Amino acid sequence: MAIKKPFFICFEGVEGSGKSTQAKLLYKFIKKNITKNVILTREPGGTLFSEKIRNLMLDKKTNISPLTEFFLLMAARNEHIITKINFYLKKKFIIICDRFFYSTLAYQHYLDGMNRKFIFDIQKKIYNKVHPDVTFLIDLNKKESKIRINKRSKKTNRFDKLSNYHFNKIRNGFLKITEMYKNKIVLIKGNKSLNEIQNEINKKTLKILNARS
Ligand code: TYD
Repeated sequence: MAIKKPFFICFEGVEGSGKSTQAKLLYKFIKKNITKNVILTREPGGTLFSEKIRNLMLDKKTNISPLTEFFLLMAARNEHIITKINFYLKKKFIIICDRFFYSTLAYQHYLDGMNRKFIFDIQKKIYNKVHPDVTFLIDLNKKESKIRINKRSKKTNRFDKLSNYHFNKIRNGFLKITEMYKNKIVLIKGNKSLNEIQNEINKKTLKILNARS
């Protein structure tokens, strides 16, 4: 398929929702079946410098204020947009990003209680014209999420041990965000099998890409 315009796809969801796995699977699917011009990236991170910020932030020993964390996230995103996302948008690539702005709303606003307008104001400064074309939001309850996280072989980070109360604040935040941006977010039930979810995402992606070309 000829991709005439860049396409920016994001994955969002609570910890253990399977979004990172699904982002990788979609990347492989697109590369094999649609175009070689596709990249997979993530937030916080995605560039050498932003990955350093990520490591600082996710370190279990890190204990910083929500505002410090917010500015670190915004610094990481600014670098990510300027040096990577904009570059590939100009090249008309398909960009798949594991977490983006809706995570900021879910974690910094709905969880940490930071002022919404303040978040939007700062975000606008760095946002420029970068908006996801579509976001796949994978929803999962706390019980399922815990089972998934316990099965993981990779190290846990400081966000993986959230209480039920905090987890639900993030989850309900994401659900409210889905309501607000209905035409931009595809809500996926994360308690289905990996294959079922993968097929759902592949089909939806093809449908949107076909409608655009
Ligand atoms: P990540 O590796 O995406 O989580 P997991 O693989 O466990 O799903 O971890 C990134 C963490 O950063 C995650 O807990 C959410 C947090 N985060 C924010 O708080 N705000 C943001 O804007 C972003 C992008 C991430």
